[in-house]
Amino acid sequence: MATVEAAAATSAASPVSGGAAEACGLPDFSSATYKDAYSRINAIVIEGEQEAHDNYIAIGTLIPEQADELTKLARMELKHMKGFTACANNLGVVADMPFAKSFFAPLHDNFQKALAEGKVTTCLLIQAILIEAFAISAYHIYIPVADPFARKITEGVVKDEYTHLNYGQEWLKANLDNVREELEQANRDNLPLVRKMLEQVAGDAAVLQMDKEDLMADFLSSYQEALIEIGFTGREIARMAAAALVG
Ligand SMILES: [Fe+2]
Ligand SMILES: [Fe+2]
Repeated sequence: MATVEAAAATSAASPVSGGAAEACGLPDFSSATYKDAYSRINAIVIEGEQEAHDNYIAIGTLIPEQADELTKLARMELKHMKGFTACANNLGVVADMPFAKSFFAPLHDNFQKALAEGKVTTCLLIQAILIEAFAISAYHIYIPVADPFARKITEGVVKDEYTHLNYGQEWLKANLDNVREELEQANRDNLPLVRKMLEQVAGDAAVLQMDKEDLMADFLSSYQEALIEIGFTGREIARMAAAALVG
């Protein structure tokens, strides 16, 4: 499992340019290269939080008795989105939203298809497990190399994302007997998309001193822990994780 310490050690070893930031082994947040990469990474985060908001509201239409709880989760996502928008403003960066929309499109389309078919399990796997685990890993790896303003905001956000992951986990656990098959298919269809998203973002993440392998390891760790909690065996989880390699 990638740890915050490991990420910090990676960043400390990376050469950077810039004054005070360099002294701490952090990137030069004011450089054009940093800002360029940040315009896409920050946009992905903003779009991700917006998608999360919309997805929880949508899931509430499939499980009306949970709509109030899901609306609470959705509100938290909007708060996150505002926080990350402030992070871009703080650095004088304009988020590249068209890029972020195309980045999320395959996962977005799969969610919309599942929603139209009333597939609660697939919707929860995509949003509450995959997207939340993806967000948690990205925020974990980002925190040690973030600028002080963004670090504080991200630390607050990551705690909320665990609440959301936990929500999906508990619902799927309670319904596992009925949802197992759909869950495995949804995993097969969507885990490869998450792997591709991680690969697509790796270059920009590296500019922010976020290591691709750390991101992958942290994501798989959160994902695996969620699947254990839901009730899958080690062997079943290994099979499910293998879908990322063949998809
Ligand atoms: Fe969020
Ligand atoms: Fe979330």
